[in-house]
Amino acid sequence: MNQLHETANFIQSKIAAKAETAIILGSGLGNLSTKIQKEFEIPYTAIPNFPVSTVEGHKGRLILGILNGQKVWVLEGRFHFYEGYSPEQVVFPVRVLKLLGVKNLILSNAAGGVNPDYQVGDLMIIKDHISFFTINPLLGKNETELGTRFPDMSEPYAQDFIDKAKAIAAAHQIKVHEGVYVGVTGPTFETRSEYKLIKIVGGDVVGMSTVQENIAAVHSGMRVFAISVVTDLGIREDNNVITHQEVLEAANAAEPKLTLIISDLVKSIA
Ligand code: HPA
Repeated sequence: MNQLHETANFIQSKIAAKAETAIILGSGLGNLSTKIQKEFEIPYTAIPNFPVSTVEGHKGRLILGILNGQKVWVLEGRFHFYEGYSPEQVVFPVRVLKLLGVKNLILSNAAGGVNPDYQVGDLMIIKDHISFFTINPLLGKNETELGTRFPDMSEPYAQDFIDKAKAIAAAHQIKVHEGVYVGVTGPTFETRSEYKLIKIVGGDVVGMSTVQENIAAVHSGMRVFAISVVTDLGIREDNNVITHQEVLEAANAAEPKLTLIISDLVKSIA
């Protein structure tokens, strides 16, 4: 808690402004920040206690600015368990956002499609997740200042945000799926048998982020919206060799659709 307060106080000493909504951008999805009228920007390396992202495609900057008329925090780049960070470090920025007064958290990520109806470049609104393959970030003594010991997870992704995003997508004639995200640790992509398993347990996509951030956000009372870009098809029987390059390219290609939905959503939830 001391570190969280120190970091939040540091940020507010640089920029006193508040924003109710924050956006965390995943691999190859950083282009949204070019749509923001920036008021403030700081690299993660200059923020005390902040981890530093080590992944290609993640810039590592905190931005405050205006998106579609709304003030937002944007985290360009996130921290993953597979980088060697503890689950607590992975969710550190989410908790800092909470202390900064953020109420709504929007998460984006690149994910592997396991639902056979999905295609590369599709978007999927996350309606629920399965986290049995990730480490829960709330393990350990509970910080009651952040939230309760046993958080309810019956609606980890706010239904009204989902409804709004679907309406926005329809208005722009953007195809969106709605499905279940299965969180894994990575950094290996899945074996053919693992993709099959993920499909059998009820997953529509699989990815290496988002679940821990969602849990920390729900724990501290934030409302969450999350959306995946399907960057590869793990379930494909023929040739499921998957490369990080392919993931980044597909994420970049789908980025404009995602940016449109998020920027309209920011306005409609304000
Ligand atoms: N599996 C796990 N994480 C991912 C994938 C995948 O196929 N694609 C993008 N992130």
